[in-house]
Amino acid sequence: MNPAITYIGCDDRDLQLFESQYALPEGMCYNSYLVSGGRIAVMDTMDPRKRDEWLDNLRKALGSRKPDYLIVHHMEPDHSGSLSAFLEAYPETTVVCSAKAQGLMAQFGAAPASVQTVKEGDTLDLGGLTLRFIMAPMVHWPEVMMTYVPELQTLFSADAFGKFGVYHADEDDWACEARRYYFNICGKYGAPVSMVLKKVASLQISTICPLHGPVLEGERLAEALRLYNIWSSYGVETAGVLVAHASIHGNTARAAEQLAEMLRARGIERVAVTDLCRDDMAEAIEDAFRMDRMVVCASSYDNNVFPPMHQFLWKLQQKAYQNRTVGIVENGSWAPSAGREMKALLEGMKDVRIIEPLVTIRSTVSQESLAQMEALADALAG
Ligand SMILES: Cc1cc2nc3c(=O)[nH]c(=O)nc-3n(C[C@H](O)[C@H](O)[C@H](O)COP(=O)(O)O)c2cc1C
Ligand SMILES: [Fe+2]
Ligand SMILES: [Fe+2]
Repeated sequence: MNPAITYIGCDDRDLQLFESQYALPEGMCYNSYLVSGGRIAVMDTMDPRKRDEWLDNLRKALGSRKPDYLIVHHMEPDHSGSLSAFLEAYPETTVVCSAKAQGLMAQFGAAPASVQTVKEGDTLDLGGLTLRFIMAPMVHWPEVMMTYVPELQTLFSADAFGKFGVYHADEDDWACEARRYYFNICGKYGAPVSMVLKKVASLQISTICPLHGPVLEGERLAEALRLYNIWSSYGVETAGVLVAHASIHGNTARAAEQLAEMLRARGIERVAVTDLCRDDMAEAIEDAFRMDRMVVCASSYDNNVFPPMHQFLWKLQQKAYQNRTVGIVENGSWAPSAGREMKALLEGMKDVRIIEPLVTIRSTVSQESLAQMEALADALAG
């Protein structure tokens, strides 16, 4: 990172659930930066849980200087939750943001004395450095913008290119937690993300400074851009099948494992199995988007489908799951209903091809259902 940029972000090692739902086995980081030309800009504030630590980082980085600008890229509280505290400490700072962000500011209880709203292509002269603003609406909130500094070939990308984990978590595997973050938080907004990627494609970028996760440079930056192009267009990253099961008493789970073995035996490169009742749902969502095929296996439940599967398919629908091939395995002891319900949920998604046969298991796998599973495995491998 260029010496004109100082990192002043914070790690939260204790937070267990990001946005009250995403498991954080390795905590979370919130990034914030100081950009120093002749004038000084602070890039975003901080999650309220880390407010004091951040103000301290900021004070140390500033030394005897005062910030001229606070650039607000995103109003979500994990970044703007310390805005009021910042304005109390530095009331003369001009807040720079999109018009939409200004509207949200009052709702979140912040009242800056001086606000400068900016729009696409506007620039701010920091004295030797230029901040050029790029609007990024619906990545993944409406007020989001990014900032490009041509002199430093640096893009401040807001939540895009972010990930779960503290700053130095799994440094050699950026994609794993970046993918889980992307699909669960931005998945629905592939079109707006693609739009911004197109806008920045013509820029010389050697550094990306996101709001979460490490600063990206060199090979890691190239790989992140490659993956974002696939992810935002709902393309296939890895050829393979995700087998997702939701089983009350374990028989459907065993059938799912058997089916996975059949798929492996047919030479499918990657077959992953997830237990929707016990495994991390966000990871199951991520894997569904990652691969080109999926099989959903569930018990029938009260003339419907077992709730963990219902939740999974509903979440996939919310996140705009699309352009995939899906097989269905249902289990029912007296009047199987899971298949019909899963099919209905899948039919509500764009370009999801349901592959035959729909396998029906009656309580436990029989000769007949085994033959159906073999036929489904053939169809998925073929
Ligand atoms: C609360 C409850 C509701 C159920 N509702 C149905 C149902 O509507 N239709 C049906 O055929 N089986 C129903 N079943 C039976 C399950 O589908 C049964 O557990 C399944 O056939 C065996 O697969 P499993 O071991 O994976 O759960 C129900 C079971 C429970 C515990
Ligand atoms: Fe956000
Ligand atoms: Fe964020």
